[in-house]
Amino acid sequence: MSEIEAPGELGAKVQIGSFKVADAARADAAGRAFVLDQMAQRPAVLTLKAWALEQLAPVAGETAVDVGSGTGEDVVVFADLGLRAIGVEPSAGLREEAVRRGPAGKGEFVDGLADKLPFDDESVDVLRCERVLQHVDDPAGSVREMVRVLRPGGRIVLIDTDWQTAIIHPADPDVLQRMVGSFLSQSANPYSGRQLRGQLAEAGLEITGETAATWLEPQAGARQGFVSMMHLRAAQSGAITEAEATAFANGITSAADRGAFHMSLTMYAVSAVKPPVA
Ligand SMILES: C[S@@+](CC[C@H](N)C(=O)[O-])C[C@H]1O[C@@H](n2cnc3c(N)ncnc32)[C@H](O)[C@@H]1O
Repeated sequence: MSEIEAPGELGAKVQIGSFKVADAARADAAGRAFVLDQMAQRPAVLTLKAWALEQLAPVAGETAVDVGSGTGEDVVVFADLGLRAIGVEPSAGLREEAVRRGPAGKGEFVDGLADKLPFDDESVDVLRCERVLQHVDDPAGSVREMVRVLRPGGRIVLIDTDWQTAIIHPADPDVLQRMVGSFLSQSANPYSGRQLRGQLAEAGLEITGETAATWLEPQAGARQGFVSMMHLRAAQSGAITEAEATAFANGITSAADRGAFHMSLTMYAVSAVKPPVA
C-alpha cells in the first residue's frame, strides 16, 4: 500500500522508499519486505486475498501468474495448490527475498513489468495483480497486457486501493487536505481502486464479481507506517510547514494514547473471465 519504508522523526534524516519500478534498484528490499509483511496481516488485505483466491478457482496443473508479486506469498499459495506458479516482480531484491522464503520448487520468480509480461499470448490460466496498478504509469495498458497473456476462459482478479478514500482523525482539515493532496500528486495512480472494473470491462472481459474492504489502521499506526510518514513527506515537499507537520504528529500520537486515533481507507477487488472463443 504505502510507499513508506521506515518511521522517522521530523528533522531526522528520513528514508522514504517507494514501490515504483523506477526506484526498485535503489530501494531497500529488506525494508520493503518488512512493510509488505506488516500489510499482509491487515484484515482488509487478508479478506481480499481470500476473496481473490475463491474467485480465481485455481485448478492443479494450471499456470498461475501474480503480477507484482512482492515477497511471493501469493505465488506460494498457487504452488501449494499444485499449479505452475509464477511471480513477475521488477525488484531484484524482492525476487531474491521471495526465493529465499519459498521452499525449493514452490514457484518461479521472474523479472518483468505489468505492461510488458514475459509470456506468450493466451498462455496463462489464472492471473492476479494486487496493489500494483497504483504504482504504474499506464494502468489501462498494463491491464490490456494481462488480458493478452490470459487464455480464453482464463480468470483474473485485480485488487487496489483508492487513496482518495483515506480518512485521518484528528487533524486540522486544511492541513490534512494539503497533506493528502501532496500525497496524491506524488503517486503514479492514486485513484486505482475505482478504475479496476472499467479497465477489465474495456479490455473485453466479462466481470464476474466485485467487492471492497476497509483498511482500519490500528492505534500503533499513528507512530509507524504510512500515517506517521505522510506529514514528513508533505513537509519535505513544502505542502505544509514544519510547524504544521509537528502539530499533526503530536495530535495523532496523543489521540492514539487515548485510543482516539482513526485512519481508514477503502480497497477494491474485481474479478473477470476472458470470454471463450466463439
Ligand atoms: C505494494 S506491493 C504489493 C506486492 C504483492 N502484490 C502483495 O500483495 O503483497 C507492489 C509491488 O508491485 C511491484 N511493482 C511496481 N511497479 C511494477 C510494475 N510496473 N510492474 C510489475 N510490478 C510492479 C513492486 O516492486 C512491489 O513488489
